[in-house]
Amino acid sequence: MRIKNNEYRTIWHENDVVKIIDQTKLPHQFIVKNLKTIKDAINAIKIMEVRGAPLIGGTAAYGIFLAVKENNDPEFIKKSSEDLIQSRPTAINLKWAVDRMMKKLSGINSDEILKIALKEAKAICDEDVNFCKNIGLNGLKIIEEIYNKKKDTVNILTHCNAGWLATINWGTATSPIYHAHKKGIPIHVWVDETRPRNQGANLTSFELNEEGVPNTIITDNAGGLLMNRGQVDMCIVGTDRTLSTGDVCNKIGTYLKALAAKDNNVPFYVALPSSTIDWEIKDPTEIPIEERDEAELSHIEGLDKDNKLQKILIYPQKSKAMNLAFDITPARLVTKLITEKGICVASEKEIKKLFNQSNIS
Ligand code: MRU
Repeated sequence: MRIKNNEYRTIWHENDVVKIIDQTKLPHQFIVKNLKTIKDAINAIKIMEVRGAPLIGGTAAYGIFLAVKENNDPEFIKKSSEDLIQSRPTAINLKWAVDRMMKKLSGINSDEILKIALKEAKAICDEDVNFCKNIGLNGLKIIEEIYNKKKDTVNILTHCNAGWLATINWGTATSPIYHAHKKGIPIHVWVDETRPRNQGANLTSFELNEEGVPNTIITDNAGGLLMNRGQVDMCIVGTDRTLSTGDVCNKIGTYLKALAAKDNNVPFYVALPSSTIDWEIKDPTEIPIEERDEAELSHIEGLDKDNKLQKILIYPQKSKAMNLAFDITPARLVTKLITEKGICVASEKEIKKLFNQSNIS
């Protein structure tokens, strides 16, 4: 997608280094960073220079490539894979990508290993681009249906950033929006600010602006009123881990939006690639919910009057804070899941049917 009219992916391999866009500095600064070692990859995931479930997966895949490049020793690569999986606990794409890389490399200790690692990391990223494109084409049908009935601007509410910056390209929740926009359907997006890190305001609004999609940032608590006033035609969000039962784990605040949507008869869609489905856990309370540093709540970063990035304290110095990063929306509040394979009800039966997983108990 575009930044200042140049086409980018969020991660790529060039001149023997892995390159990323540093998302901690957006929207105020556009900085491309090099990842040269496995430590660089782990750190980029931890401090959220890269974030969003599919992009964390893509970075982890390249992380394994960097580990092989650094030291082609099976013990080192195994330890690196474990450290990567620990770097952020909630998004299942991370483990999915690491497991796939490790399986591909198992038993290979020839000179070919580095080439194979790079090829597989690229394949994981290319596959994600295709998944997200197809999520967009499938989700487009829902937006078209609303537009054909309404014959006026379709108002869509989204939470956090499940945009192209959270994936390799296109995004999950934003892909249907971009496809509809390209088709000439008038769209307006309500962007939840998404405290504490403001991924909605800093990233979703930024990328929609760059693509010319009209959008308005709202406080995290405004969605209910807008739905009540009939100003939201549909909600669409991403997910960090969706269970095969249809329960959806996503950025903190998603659950409250789903409750408000249910109460106001607003359809609530979740867009996801199959790499975000956890086929093992059945009980949502077993999903590890990341708890991040309380400084993310108590401090805020922005431009000062001299256009310099500054971080300031906004809470009482003595106050404690708790920073839970994700919540769980039960399947019963989800209207439909939009995947690369098609659209389905958020139920075990329908998800397994769509993905041909009848043998998974
Ligand atoms: O903490 P983040 O910014 O990594 O959280 C991102 C989200 O919650 C996204 O909605 C999710 O990863 C889906 S990305 C397509």
